[in-house]
Amino acid sequence: MSKTLRKLTRMPLPEGWLWETFKRRFLLIDLRSFWLFIKESSLRSLMVRNGCDSKPPLNHGSVEKYSESPMSPANPFFAHGVASGEPLSDAVVIWTRVQDAVDVDWELSLSPEFDHIKAFGSCRAELENDLTINVDVTELDPFTVYYYRFRAGRHVSSVGKTKTLPASGEQRARFAQVSCAKYNAGFFNTYAAIAKRGDLDFLLHLGDYIYEASNNPPGSQTPGADIGRPFKPDHECKSLEDYRLRYEQYRSDPDVQAMHASLPIIPMVDDHEIADGAWRDGADEHDETRDGPWSLRMQAALKARSEWLPMRKNFPENPNRAYRTIQIGNLIDLLLVDTRTMRDRPAPPPEMYLESRSALGVHQRDWLYRSVESSKSRWCFIANPSVMSSTWSDSIDDKSRLALLKLKLIASNGVDPDWDQWDGYPHEREELLSVLSKKKGGLIVLSGDIHASFVFELKSGSQQLSSDPIGFEFVVPSITSQNLDDKMKWEPGTLSCEYQAALLELLPHAVWCDLDSHGYNVIDVNQDRVQVEYWHVQTVLQRSDIERMASSWKVRHGETSIERVD
Ligand SMILES: [Fe+2]
Repeated sequence: MSKTLRKLTRMPLPEGWLWETFKRRFLLIDLRSFWLFIKESSLRSLMVRNGCDSKPPLNHGSVEKYSESPMSPANPFFAHGVASGEPLSDAVVIWTRVQDAVDVDWELSLSPEFDHIKAFGSCRAELENDLTINVDVTELDPFTVYYYRFRAGRHVSSVGKTKTLPASGEQRARFAQVSCAKYNAGFFNTYAAIAKRGDLDFLLHLGDYIYEASNNPPGSQTPGADIGRPFKPDHECKSLEDYRLRYEQYRSDPDVQAMHASLPIIPMVDDHEIADGAWRDGADEHDETRDGPWSLRMQAALKARSEWLPMRKNFPENPNRAYRTIQIGNLIDLLLVDTRTMRDRPAPPPEMYLESRSALGVHQRDWLYRSVESSKSRWCFIANPSVMSSTWSDSIDDKSRLALLKLKLIASNGVDPDWDQWDGYPHEREELLSVLSKKKGGLIVLSGDIHASFVFELKSGSQQLSSDPIGFEFVVPSITSQNLDDKMKWEPGTLSCEYQAALLELLPHAVWCDLDSHGYNVIDVNQDRVQVEYWHVQTVLQRSDIERMASSWKVRHGETSIERVD
């Protein structure tokens, strides 16, 4: 884009807002289409197979500086861009933030030129919500793309694109799955890649959208990378002001803004939105005498989250409730599970084996069991922040032990299961798997949190490892949070290969894994099958638009086998 045009697009709008904006968008769309065509052509040619035995070099093409963003430039009054989320078949939440307590108009259209306005309205930005705006736009048509924008006086926001969910009868859905975006560990190339795809209905975010961590974390946490992206504030977030500033930093990132402007998000909470190792009444590093009451910290963290993410007030009587069902036509019942804010304190053996211990809490567990048992859709998806399949074995070889320790998939003492994930709640997991096993032939679990790519056959109980799986679990790698090569300072895709092989040997229910890469999954669903593609970005240590499809998997409805199809 020429400097002249860039200057033109940043000028304040003159009178006749709709007409001027139409002309501006018209010019930008042509240039953007050309830009995307060039980028897509080079990107798709890089699709290659993964696997350490035939790992292709990742240095095709060049690392890109993203000097030209495909998104229209943000007006400084709307410095944090626009976003949308929580789509339903007839509604979606649109979001922005302004610089002052003012009235803000919004409008939503079927076209990016805004020549056919579907809905519009006005609301007030309030300091008590950190000048953020969440509008639940209702009475929309199902499975329809909409464009939206905001205006405050002479200031106009960039344009966001969103989409409603399908209604009953629709036979397809296609979305992305991500987790764990640690700002000081890398650039959000994953978000940039998702933003320019254009083939996704929504983004399922499994949590750790922010990290609350300090730039100088305690020994139990991994320090950031030395790439010039320190956290703001530089200390661990504990107050409402801290969490707000951290979200503001994330939402100032151009790749975060591009992602949000391109599709709606369905978010779930993990521990780092609140504090490392969070549980119902505390967290690993939370000291009440030093940090104040845990309940106030949790409330502050979740308030900032509800302000800065496009979120519907689903449960006004219980605003902290995160678990919920999202109906995707009659194709998918998407059950979003909260394994952090309601769980009992993570505990080592022998306490961890107590039957009474819960990762879900009584109310969520009742809801989950009832939801699974009453699920009528073709597929039942569990969106599960922390890995459900076991990563434990009674006889761990040295290579597997090192990998599991570094990835925090066994306890730090090296001799016990990790009590922070589902392995730490074995009795309840067995009960849950027993309930899930009644959902014949259509069960998929989508997980995050562990910063590595895994495909698991979901099986109940180590004694039944030889039996047919009850479903399949797809664990997405992190967006940036460190994994094995990052922690070991190895070249990606080199020394880790032996450790991947060792883990696949150790865990017979693990079908595939990659311990080094960062990226996202694309989930494509129809009546007959679910297909999951693992997309890995080349690096997170600098901005890059190079990605590759590492593997692709197909699960046919009603079958107990999985097929690699890349
Ligand atoms: Fe994480």
